[in-house]
Amino acid sequence: MIRFEQVSKVYPDGTRAVDGLSFEVAEGELVTLVGPSGCGKTTTMMMVNRLIEPSSGRILVNGEDISGVDPVKLRRRIGYVIQQVGLFPHRTILDNTATVPSLVGWKRARARERAAELLDLVGLDPKTYGSRYPAQLSGGQRQRVGVARALAADPPVLLMDEPFGAVDPVVRERLQDEFLSLQARVRKTVLMVTHDIEEAVRMGDRIAVYGTGRIEQFDSPGAVLGSPATSYVAQFVGADRGLKRLSVTTIEPDDLEQPPVARLDEPVRSAAARLSSAGARWAVVLNGEGDLHGWVSADALRIAGEHGTVGEPARRMDAWVPVGAPLKQAFSEMLQHDAGWVAVLDGSRFLGVLTPAKLHEALRRSVDADAQGVGRDEVWFDSVADA
Ligand SMILES: Nc1ncnc2c1ncn2[C@@H]1O[C@H](COP(=O)(O)OP(=O)(O)OP(=O)(O)O)[C@@H](O)[C@H]1O
Ligand SMILES: [Mg+2]
Repeated sequence: MIRFEQVSKVYPDGTRAVDGLSFEVAEGELVTLVGPSGCGKTTTMMMVNRLIEPSSGRILVNGEDISGVDPVKLRRRIGYVIQQVGLFPHRTILDNTATVPSLVGWKRARARERAAELLDLVGLDPKTYGSRYPAQLSGGQRQRVGVARALAADPPVLLMDEPFGAVDPVVRERLQDEFLSLQARVRKTVLMVTHDIEEAVRMGDRIAVYGTGRIEQFDSPGAVLGSPATSYVAQFVGADRGLKRLSVTTIEPDDLEQPPVARLDEPVRSAAARLSSAGARWAVVLNGEGDLHGWVSADALRIAGEHGTVGEPARRMDAWVPVGAPLKQAFSEMLQHDAGWVAVLDGSRFLGVLTPAKLHEALRRSVDADAQGVGRDEVWFDSVADA
């Protein structure tokens, strides 16, 4: 969808901002460009909508060399969230959002209707915020308007330059989540700039890690964290990349352990017998519908004696995660509830439990699956040791 072929940019003063860049963003894919300040990220973006012309090489959008496309027409197909948002201070939020549709000749009423729809989509009630001016919004709200405005003409391609840069980490995480769920619905081809590796990992289907003017590694988040291609990348992603990897590795049904299961209304005696024949010290307890209730230990069953049901000695268990959640969420639930395992559910159905040992195995599996680089074992063990 977006293709860079040996693209370089030398500014008139001789600054080589981008040097022989080649990569491709597939349709519906979100690629993050991450790297330190001044490494050429904004320059890369602005060449896609011809706000900056490359010095050599070519860029294709949808198979077409953009050097032959009228820049105005090109920009209609490409939404752009500029660094620092850049709302017009003397226009209302609604008019700001309607800018592009108005520019491309939509009737005013239709453009405003579309703008209201989009504000709603990014979580800003148009009735409340539509008539305000940018100065009357918080930083995070302004950033949402920036995203809404970029989406307004429904372009297939979206360029976002540090779209969530100006807000605190909590709001930033919320905006990221909101954008991801939006993206799951609208499936734009997105090139997004950030200088924050956490954000790059969280948002990107793939990540381009920039050195100065060039890409050091272009890969999935898991691979960038698990097997950095160069020592520069390893240093850039940080010593805690083992921990970051927890955020990008998801829990699969195969990762789960299957402890014995008891029912709330089951006689204590039959549950105790099952535990002892399995040689287990505890069992997961499910209610009549098969939903998670909690757990019961072999000791508690023994103390409960011969009579009664499992419901009496059973304890509640609140540590659970949905299948497909990142390992980090499971780990965080374990810590939060001071639990030695977490239940993994599909909807409300109990699938199995994740233990620290299984968590480690899952992480290991994902490293093996992603690893192509040299010396991955050293990298991996270094990162675990650092973590
Ligand atoms: N118009 C210009 N003339 C000369 N040099 C420029 C110009 N614009 C940018 N540069 C230089 O090109 C390099 C890349 O700039 P660019 O804006 O692409 O960096 P960036 O990766 O977006 O940085 P940041 O994270 O700080 O936004 C920098 O060294 C910058 O000083
Ligand atoms: Mg920039």
